[in-house]
Amino acid sequence: MEHITEVKIYKSPKKVYNAIAKSIIKLTQESQQKAFDIALSGGNSPKGLFKKISKKYKDEIPWKRIHLWWGDERCVSPDSEQSNYKMTVDYLLSNIDIPEENIHRIRGEEDPEQEAKRYSKELEDTLNSRGKDPVFDLIILGLGDDGHTASIFPDQIELFDYPENCAVAQHPISGQKRITLTGNVLNNANRIYFLVTGENKAMRVSEIMNDNEAAKLLPAYYIAPTNGDLIWFLDEEAASLIS
Ligand code: 6PG
Repeated sequence: MEHITEVKIYKSPKKVYNAIAKSIIKLTQESQQKAFDIALSGGNSPKGLFKKISKKYKDEIPWKRIHLWWGDERCVSPDSEQSNYKMTVDYLLSNIDIPEENIHRIRGEEDPEQEAKRYSKELEDTLNSRGKDPVFDLIILGLGDDGHTASIFPDQIELFDYPENCAVAQHPISGQKRITLTGNVLNNANRIYFLVTGENKAMRVSEIMNDNEAAKLLPAYYIAPTNGDLIWFLDEEAASLIS
């Protein structure tokens, strides 16, 4: 796992959120770019981070220079409880003063194939690029307990080498359609932070960190930025099985 820059382990989820928040403050304050592009993850893990930023750090982040994107989105309406965008509005966007035009949501309510094309083009037209792919300054990823990340699931691992920036994926159990960034964009980022907490992630984390044979079936195993840093932010529970 030589492509992992650092594994940071904290006593509690709260300390994980604090560490990531402080890193985002440092990165964005030090950046001279007119736009700092961050892709957010969905699910539950980011809620604690967004709450921490909203409560404690919102005035320390230069929101006018930050553009928020998503690593994936469920194909549901933006006001659905399933929507990653809605979760982000509830826990972060409703508490911060960020220009509307800096928020680049994936339109889960649109036809999935059309939206994957549209978002791919918006990324291409808006972000800096390195080689043929757009470059995120920071991507925050979660880890599913089946080893998926973004919405690249184990049974669709070919989305890592997909020619477009985005693809339509499908949750293997619920069948729910998703739009996801694909491997070429993910691994082109300047830095990727995994935000993983909780006992239920410990097995997958250990498979990946211990480079087990089983890990090679997990999409998260293939997150390896070719020109950037990969930092795992873990609490002790999620890290408890790393040998
Ligand atoms: C999503 C997420 C997904 C998430 C993992 C972990 O749309 O669900 O982007 O990739 O990061 O499933 O989910 P939890 O944080 O809820 O454990």
